Amino acid sequence: MENIKSYVQENKDRFINELIELLKIPSVSADSAYSQDVIDTSEAVKVSLEKAGCDFVEICETDGYPIVYGEKMIDPALPTVLVYGHYDVQPADPIELWTSPPFEPVIKTTDIHPEGAIFARGACDDKGQMYMHVKAFEYMIQNNNLPCNVKFMIEGEEEVGSVNLKTFVENNTEKLKNDVILISDTGMISNQQPSITTGLRGLSYVEVEVTGPNRDLHSGLYGGAVANPINILAKMIASLHDENNHITIPGFYDNVEELSTEERAEMAKAPFNLEKYKNALKLNDVYGEKGYTTNERNSIRPTLDVNGIWGGYTGEGAKTVIASQAFAKISMRLVPNQDWEQITELFTKHFMSIAPAGVTVKVKPHHGGQGYVTPIDSIGYQAANMAYTETFGVPAIPVRSGGSIPIVALFEKELKSKTILMGFGLDSDAIHSPNEHFGVFNYLKGIETIPLFYKYFVELSK
Ligand code: BES
Ligand code: MN
Ligand code: MN
Repeated sequence: MENIKSYVQENKDRFINELIELLKIPSVSADSAYSQDVIDTSEAVKVSLEKAGCDFVEICETDGYPIVYGEKMIDPALPTVLVYGHYDVQPADPIELWTSPPFEPVIKTTDIHPEGAIFARGACDDKGQMYMHVKAFEYMIQNNNLPCNVKFMIEGEEEVGSVNLKTFVENNTEKLKNDVILISDTGMISNQQPSITTGLRGLSYVEVEVTGPNRDLHSGLYGGAVANPINILAKMIASLHDENNHITIPGFYDNVEELSTEERAEMAKAPFNLEKYKNALKLNDVYGEKGYTTNERNSIRPTLDVNGIWGGYTGEGAKTVIASQAFAKISMRLVPNQDWEQITELFTKHFMSIAPAGVTVKVKPHHGGQGYVTPIDSIGYQAANMAYTETFGVPAIPVRSGGSIPIVALFEKELKSKTILMGFGLDSDAIHSPNEHFGVFNYLKGIETIPLFYKYFVELSK
């Protein structure tokens, strides 16, 4: 694989330009105003897989956005790697906080990315990381050193819960048969210290609605005499955590796996600087569940957060009003063994039970998924570690992430294979935030590292 480095050097401008073209299409799956763009992106992904060297590529229609499937089968006796990624992106708003338009990619330098980073929605999550796999595959085809079979499954609904992918996987287990699933849709510790994600949190996402009077009321004429849905909602939400920041929903922690002192000590070895962390977010202190460190709070512990809350008058000036209704979107991040559907039920039951007389409450479940943990002694993990060690010069550290890719647990259940999460993004890349970016270094390093994973995975499989 000596020449992967030179292949990347010779082709890097083209690799960057091709990614920029893909990033120009606003494939926002959550907003139907972009539906044609999402569909156009699936076409662009299809063409890129054909050009890179797949023998067979198809657009698989679903009840939502299509799944792009491609393959290169060289020998049924050899292992098969299934690459998963997503071509949809999060909404770009608040758009006014972007320093350049989200769908007009530009390269700018940052303190962390002195070689430059591509700024655009989806640059890191996940178009940039997904496209590294297409380019790594192109290299292996061009250099006649693809050591095994490859299948690509690139979906367009990850950011909205992968509901249709679930059905697709359940109905196509034979077609998707593989020996290992490879995903780049997570991050690593830093450009000097690679890490491999060994855990993802599960998710339960709900929307709540509190209704008081049948219409908005004058807050002087009625204030004090009727329940104000916004006051009540705020009170109900505040009661979901106790003074130690434990979640108060009965049964919520029942299945939470407690890590041993040894495992926690092992976790604490990963490089982390609390002062830098606070500084990067301009915080005077961190906040969270008593008894756990920052890294534990955002990986091995479940959480409950309001993602949005609205109601009443929020326009210019003041309007004296008691709103008829108040709403909030709430997510719960879950850890392995917590079942998301059961947690959704526990939440619903509890939230209804704490509603005072004078209001009615509705809970609408959105989507969810189970958490995931993967062992570090599998061939896949070892192959990934060997690949990172070779391109970064230091071994990768296993890290449990706080984010969720709900489909990963389903892959294991339906396809009976392990997923290796080889992420190349950084926490500072601002995924889901304004000014998302992906380091040019990270993009090219990913393309360089992926073919080594294939090489070592096939060697270790013998
Ligand atoms: N790629 C992210 C998840 C991620 C990012 C995991 C960084 C680990 C490190 C993915 O696209 C995502 O945003 N997932 C959503 C869940 C989904 C159901 C909307 C999430 O975690 O909020
Ligand atoms: Mn993603
Ligand atoms: Mn995402």
